[in-house]
Amino acid sequence: MSLLRTVGLTRRYAGLVAVDGVDLEVAAGGIHAVIGPNGAGKTTLFNLISGVVVPSEGSIVFAGVEVTGQAVHERAALGMARTFQNIRVFGSMTVLENVLTGMHVRLGWGRAAERRAVVAAEAALEFVGLAGRKGERAGALAYGEQRRLEIARAVVAKPKLLLLDEPAAGMNPAETEALAGLVRRIRGDGTTVLLVEHDMGFVMDLSDRITVLNFGRKIFEGAPAEVRGAPEVVEAYLGPKVAARLAARA
Ligand SMILES: Nc1ncnc2c1ncn2[C@@H]1O[C@H](COP(=O)(O)OP(=O)(O)OP(=O)(O)O)[C@@H](O)[C@H]1O
Ligand SMILES: [Mg+2]
Repeated sequence: MSLLRTVGLTRRYAGLVAVDGVDLEVAAGGIHAVIGPNGAGKTTLFNLISGVVVPSEGSIVFAGVEVTGQAVHERAALGMARTFQNIRVFGSMTVLENVLTGMHVRLGWGRAAERRAVVAAEAALEFVGLAGRKGERAGALAYGEQRRLEIARAVVAKPKLLLLDEPAAGMNPAETEALAGLVRRIRGDGTTVLLVEHDMGFVMDLSDRITVLNFGRKIFEGAPAEVRGAPEVVEAYLGPKVAARLAARA
């Protein structure tokens, strides 16, 4: 069963088609990656799916609902959450307050609801390994920790779909390894994951399915073993050296 489906999704900018007629189907319960060279349209695709950018053409169905014209918060209410390629934590707020912003806590909620929100936020911090840091200023966290904080904020409301845009960027190998474990636990908790990442070891180990974009178009889709051996993917993105290294470690 597919949780997310885009049909003919297109976004044009002056003189350029950032996303060009992309049909994407994301199965419920899996880890699905979108890869491709810089400028291929990966972030724009995520912006279209999450509602940050309006499509020029095409449609998006999420959890059985046509969401193409919906605002970001409406899609969030249906169970869609994301992180950003450039970290967006509120540096002067505490770590816990940052996670609370993912819960749409409204003014006028009673004390009991507030208390429940705090309990959920603390659980999310525990989940990403930041429980001990909840009272610190978010801006004081190291880069990899801020990435995990963003993930805590995204998963605190238990989304059906989590979009991760380059979650391993700037992480060292140990942090990347821990991140892979975290993504698996998120999926294990019933959240479908759609991720963009340039770290091919990470992508190949983690993903059930991979979609490859080049110049806004989908050029290939398949299981990791198919993707790393596909001539058009090697040509457009991986290059022969990386492809050989990936084949050797599999
Ligand atoms: N707001 C915008 N206005 C004009 N062009 C844009 C805009 N946003 C994206 N683009 C262009 O669309 C193309 C796709 O960009 P996008 O950021 O989606 O690529 P990407 O695959 O995420 O690349 P990277 O791997 O570097 O993050 C690029 O050529 C980019 O310059
Ligand atoms: Mg990008």
